[in-house]
Amino acid sequence: MPEDSAAVTALLQASYPVLMAAAYDEADLAPALDPMTKANERLLRSGTYYVAQAGNGTLLGCGGWTRERPGTSSVEPGVGHLRHFATHPGWARRGVGRAIYRRCEADARAAGIEEFECYASLNAQKFYAALGFDSVRSIVIDFPLGISLPAMLMRRPIGEQNRDSGNAPA
Ligand SMILES: CC(C)(COP(=O)(O)OP(=O)(O)OC[C@H]1O[C@@H](n2cnc3c(N)ncnc32)[C@H](O)[C@@H]1OP(=O)(O)O)[C@@H](O)C(=O)NCCC(=O)NCCS
Repeated sequence: MPEDSAAVTALLQASYPVLMAAAYDEADLAPALDPMTKANERLLRSGTYYVAQAGNGTLLGCGGWTRERPGTSSVEPGVGHLRHFATHPGWARRGVGRAIYRRCEADARAAGIEEFECYASLNAQKFYAALGFDSVRSIVIDFPLGISLPAMLMRRPIGEQNRDSGNAPA
């Protein structure tokens, strides 16, 4: 929700510099962190952006999906886009990202989405592969001020017949 903006930004700022350093040089990553680690207000209002939280309310992870292609208002029938996933580094590899993904997949399927796409950061490629995504092609994500980062376009069918593939219990 919009009122989660500060907490989501704090989570993104804790997660991205640490976990993305596994795949990017500091010189390439540092300039992109500022645009990447601000909570996206449109996502917070979308109704399809989720958080995982501890019993005391601390955010452990976030992520969601939209019909709009990131950075555009373009919509293709049946296609959903995964958006702005992050897990707190202290909670990495404990199933938080997978749990948020499962919620995305269930809600998107119920809304008629048949295929998910994501612009995967290179450090997150194995995560999405574990969720059943295939790598399609290398891409470059552009940010303002001429900043860019290499990434991977990944896709996964999520129709009824694909309900269980790549989504085994954590
Ligand atoms: C990508 C990210 C969200 C994954 O979150 P997570 O909560 O650690 O993921 P999970 O624990 O649910 O992992 C599920 C499975 O994905 C795979 N996986 C996740 N992270 C992995 C890694 N770093 N290396 C190899 N496999 C990985 C594993 O198969 C894992 O299952 P296992 O731990 O039982 O082997 C997290 O690493 C992150 O926040 N990265 C920084 C931000 C980012 O790159 N976001 C994606 C933007 S496109």
